[in-house]
Amino acid sequence: MIPKYKLRDGNEIPAIGLGSWQLKGDHCINAVKLALEIGYRHIDTAEIYENEKEIGIAINNFPRDEIFITSKVSGNHLKFNNVIKSCELSLRNLNTNYLDLYLIHWPNPFVSLRETFKAMKKLHDDGKIISFGVSNFDLNLLKKALEIEEIPICVNQVEFHPFFYQKDLLEFCKKHNIILVAYSPLARGKINENKIIKEIARKYEKTPAQISLRWIIQKGAIPIPKASTKEHLKENINVFNWSISKEDEMKIDNIKKFNLISFAFKILNFLVK
Ligand SMILES: NC(=O)c1ccc[n+]([C@@H]2O[C@H](COP(=O)([O-])OP(=O)(O)OC[C@H]3O[C@@H](n4cnc5c(N)ncnc54)[C@H](OP(=O)(O)O)[C@@H]3O)[C@@H](O)[C@H]2O)c1
Repeated sequence: MIPKYKLRDGNEIPAIGLGSWQLKGDHCINAVKLALEIGYRHIDTAEIYENEKEIGIAINNFPRDEIFITSKVSGNHLKFNNVIKSCELSLRNLNTNYLDLYLIHWPNPFVSLRETFKAMKKLHDDGKIISFGVSNFDLNLLKKALEIEEIPICVNQVEFHPFFYQKDLLEFCKKHNIILVAYSPLARGKINENKIIKEIARKYEKTPAQISLRWIIQKGAIPIPKASTKEHLKENINVFNWSISKEDEMKIDNIKKFNLISFAFKILNFLVK
């Protein structure tokens, strides 16, 4: 059984999810079905990933209330009517009546947060989304957003892995009871190449991917690794009944930083009203 965290609005979210960016077609259907068989109960998608129909097919025979589905509205669809349309299309594609979590995928300096928040409230009031959150919001933008939220911002989904430990943002999120969901938790596979991570992995008889995911979990964040092979899917979920010592956790904290996402998000954050 995968543990769950309580969100700010009282709902619950499983402590690990399956990322689905770049999973397409039958490959996507098979990976999601396999993940559900293995025990995953939290799937992360977005309108821009163009795989919601396939995920809808993969979850079709599963009790809906046992699966947590996150989707995201693209940053270029943040006007009131566009948010509503995007959500309705995601619901049709996923063949479901509601999303467990709906995120603003990235901020847009040309649409006010207030306008998007009103649309999210409407979707929430209509029962189309259960919880609401944001993605790619930095500390300053998150502060701004909290001042004007209409319904609780429960999650901030951001890049977070041993090469990009966003400590200040994490601490801010914790203080405000916002869950940090960690995307690219394996640094898109680069985790396998790091000497310190590899050494720690050998010590615990785990893989570098498991060390990265366990480190994220120990930070109190939720990793959403993307995987498509049975071996990777199994490995990635097997991160709950063991732990890394405080000393080794600190070695990982101090790994030299770099991030994968471009400078563009920083500029977008700065410009949003
Ligand atoms: N909100 C946003 O703006 C945003 C941005 C980026 C990503 N995301 C979300 O976060 C999810 C994860 O991030 P990501 O897809 O960028 O990268 P990631 O999860 O860090 O890495 C995925 C890569 O790692 C490989 N992998 C998976 N498990 C492994 C294991 N145990 N050992 C070795 N390699 C392994 C995968 O290969 P195989 O496929 O061959 O298994 C794939 O090539 C995305 O799928 C998406 O849902 C959100």
